[in-house]
Order: sequence, then C-alpha cells, then structure tokens
Amino acid sequence: MPAKIPWWLPQVGSGAERIFLTQALDNNYINEGPLVTQFETKIAALVNAKYAIATPSCTVGLFLALKALGIGHGDEVLVPDITFIATANAVDLCGATPILVDVDPATFTIDCGQAEKRITAKTKAIMPVHVTGRGADMSAVMALATRHNLFVVEDAAEALMSKQGSQYLGTFGQAGCFSFSPNKTITTGQGGLIVTNDEKIYNRLRPLKDQGRPTRGTGGDDRHDTIGYNFKMTDLQAAIGLGQLTLLKKRIERMKRNHELYQTNLGDLPYLSLFKFRTEEVPQWTDALIPERRDELVEYLKTNSIDSRKYWFPIHRQLAYKQPDDLFPQSILLSPQAVWLPSAYTLTDEDVLTVCEKIKEFFKN
Ligand SMILES: Cc1ncc(COP(=O)(O)O)c(C=O)c1O
Repeated sequence: MPAKIPWWLPQVGSGAERIFLTQALDNNYINEGPLVTQFETKIAALVNAKYAIATPSCTVGLFLALKALGIGHGDEVLVPDITFIATANAVDLCGATPILVDVDPATFTIDCGQAEKRITAKTKAIMPVHVTGRGADMSAVMALATRHNLFVVEDAAEALMSKQGSQYLGTFGQAGCFSFSPNKTITTGQGGLIVTNDEKIYNRLRPLKDQGRPTRGTGGDDRHDTIGYNFKMTDLQAAIGLGQLTLLKKRIERMKRNHELYQTNLGDLPYLSLFKFRTEEVPQWTDALIPERRDELVEYLKTNSIDSRKYWFPIHRQLAYKQPDDLFPQSILLSPQAVWLPSAYTLTDEDVLTVCEKIKEFFKN
C-alpha cells in the first residue's frame, strides 16, 4: 500500500505533455530532434546560461562535462562525501579518481577548507554538489578553484532554479548538470542537461555525445573528427520535459510552501533541526537532523502512512569507495541523523501539518 503522505510523488500525464508527445509522433521523428533543441533552449533561458546540452541522465552529463574539460586517467577530482553516489561514479567513468571530502555541517555541502587540504599535483577539478537545492558556498569554491587552477563542475542535479545571490546554481563553474529523474522537480523519466557559458566547452560537448560528429549526420558518410559516444536524449523524453516545464513555477511554489510550513511548525524543537535555505534557493526536499531516534521516527511515521527518506550513507563507507573514517568526522556524525521529510509538490497544507503533528506526538512519548 503506498503511503497516504508520500515522501515524493512524480506527476506525469498532463495535457501539455500529451500535446508535445503528439507533436513528436506526428513529426515521425522520435530521435534527438527539434523538441530536444526546444527543451535545451528553454532551460538555458530559465537559468540564464548561454548553452545547454541534453543528456540521458545527470550522471552522463557530469561524465561528459569532465571529459570535455580533458579530465581522465591519472587525474583527481574533489567530491563531497555526502552526495548521491552518482557524483563519484561520474568521475570514475571518465577514468579519474574521486577524492572524497568532508562536508560543512550547516549545509551538508563540500567543506572548502577540507577540500584544500586534499589537493595534490594530480587534482584537476572540484565538483560541488548542491544538496537538495541548497547551494555549496560558491564564492569559496570559485576562490579555491582560482587559487589552485581547478575546473569547477557543479552537480546541480537537485538544484534546478535554485540561486545563490542573483545567479542560478549550475552556472558558476565551467559546467553544471541537472537531473530529470523521477524524484526531481521536473522529470523526463530519466534525463539530464549540462549548462555552460563557455563556447569552447559547448563545442566539445556536442560531438562527445554524438560519436564525435561536429554536426548531426546521416549515420553514413559523416565526419568523425574526435572520439565520441552516443549520449543523446530523445524527442519523446524532451516532449515530456517540455510539458513538465509548464508546471515548474507552480511546483516550486508548493515546495517552498512545504518548507515554510515545516519551518513554522518544527522550527524550534529541541530534538529536531531543519536545514536552512536561503530565500533564493528552492528546497528540492526538506531535510532535518534528528540526533536521537531517527530510525524509530521513520518507522513511526510509516505506521501512520507517512513516508520519509533516510539520508545517503557517506560515500567513503560504501564498499565501492571504502576508506577509513578519520577524514570524515562530520559526515559520519550527521548522516545517521539526517532525514528527508515528505516534500512532494503534490502535498497539501493539511498533509504537511499532519506530518508535523505526528513528529511532535512521537517525541512526546
Ligand atoms: C546529487 C545528485 N547527483 C547526481 C545524480 C544523478 O542523476 P541521474 O539519476 O539523472 O543520473 C542525482 C540523482 O538523483 C543526485 O541527486
């Protein structure tokens, strides 16, 4: 039985999506075509970026961005220890080594002081992750990158339309990548998109995702000037994405409202602390630290038909990237305390208030 109050619930099937899908079918062209271009153009305009390149996922987008910057075997890339594992996997995919860095306890984003200590002659890039829409400290990241001549690739998978100051997250570094997997504000089933303001990087990205062709070809007597792969999006996905975009503003308003209600009702409890968001950030999901009894609370909510989601394990504790705990005091302390509260854009005020009541009820007992 699905929970009455979901942690997240994607919504597809709107009239707009059906219109764009019909267009793709009527075009008799469902490969990457005009609808992908339209989708790229719209997102670039929304986040004020010069160029956008659609990809099959954000993981692939991060990989392509690193590859376009010439990062590969023998290179090291700084990655926060608390993130979805895709960030580290994208580094591995391009042949480089992810160097895990502890996080800032106030934001759960990369700690630039710790990052600086992990820089070696092999370090080529830093990948800040804007966890749950909350920006890494981009002035510190950019300053660090300038001091050490590093590229910056932003993992903005969870940060579409989030800003720091007046600038959209994803547009600070050489490249930034968004995700359109089902638990994001807009979804294309799977999907991602790279943004960049650098024409040279854009010109490398296009052939990289299309078998090294400088222009779209026939599959026959095409020129392949460089090595590339097949990481195109399809017009079927872009059709869904274009339809989803018509609901973006409304969804963001609702996600902000969810967070505001949590803040008002749970903001000053001794046993739970909500992570703070700046007003220009979009809380992709609302997250909190619960120093004691987090797992019990998650179970209690479940018995009341309320879903929540426990935070990722620190990456250095995953078998895939196993390392000793010594360098990660914050991530090992905080990850077992962290939880995402129900954050779906389908929630009502009443739903969020019910969650708040149930949390208070649990801690009263
Ligand atoms: C922080 C972060 N990075 C990367 C990804 C990977 O995105 P995708 O699933 O589109 O490859 C995700 C997706 O969930 C994410 O949350």
